[in-house]
Amino acid sequence: MKTGCKICRLLNVVLIAALLGGVYLVMVPQNIKTHADGRSVVLLNQNERNKVLGEMRGLLETVQVVVQAATMGDMEAVAAASSAVGMAAAQAESPALIAKLPFEFKTLGMSTHRAFDSLAETAQGTDDPTVVLTELGNIMDNCVACHSGYRLGVEGADNEG
Ligand code: HEC
Repeated sequence: MKTGCKICRLLNVVLIAALLGGVYLVMVPQNIKTHADGRSVVLLNQNERNKVLGEMRGLLETVQVVVQAATMGDMEAVAAASSAVGMAAAQAESPALIAKLPFEFKTLGMSTHRAFDSLAETAQGTDDPTVVLTELGNIMDNCVACHSGYRLGVEGADNEG
């Protein structure tokens, strides 16, 4: 009897471990690796990576336009550049790409798009450059946070991280 119970307990442990392993496989995206520099590597296909990097260069350009336009007092240009990278731009993302992104990455990305919509609204209601630049500085906390945690890799080529 006693031996039987030990086996039962052992079996329970094995089954629970298998169950947790299964949950882990389903919940945690398998296309995330850790790079030697400590950041998480999000593995995408070549096209997806090019698209994300293209959007990134667009964000940098937006920052440049906003800084220049705000210092010249051209709030219309601030609003136009900001709303061009707002939530409307995020809606064009492919579901296959979104599925590959870690939760925190998506959250930071979405809140960045939303923040640019709100910057566009701010610009429409002020002529004070410091108000715009302060809000831009806060948005850029997101750029810094995401870049310090993540990098992009190509599926197949960068699997070792
Ligand atoms: C949700 C995450 C995230 C946010 C938010 C984010 N980035 Fe990025 N960005 C990345 C990743 C990941 C890379 C690729 C880095 C790598 O592979 O080393 C990148 C790369 C870039 C690049 C290089 C593009 C290229 O062609 O190589 C620029 C420029 C850039 N980001 C600008 C910005 C700016 C400006 C902001 C904020 C307004 C921003 N990013 C916000 C994740 C993010």
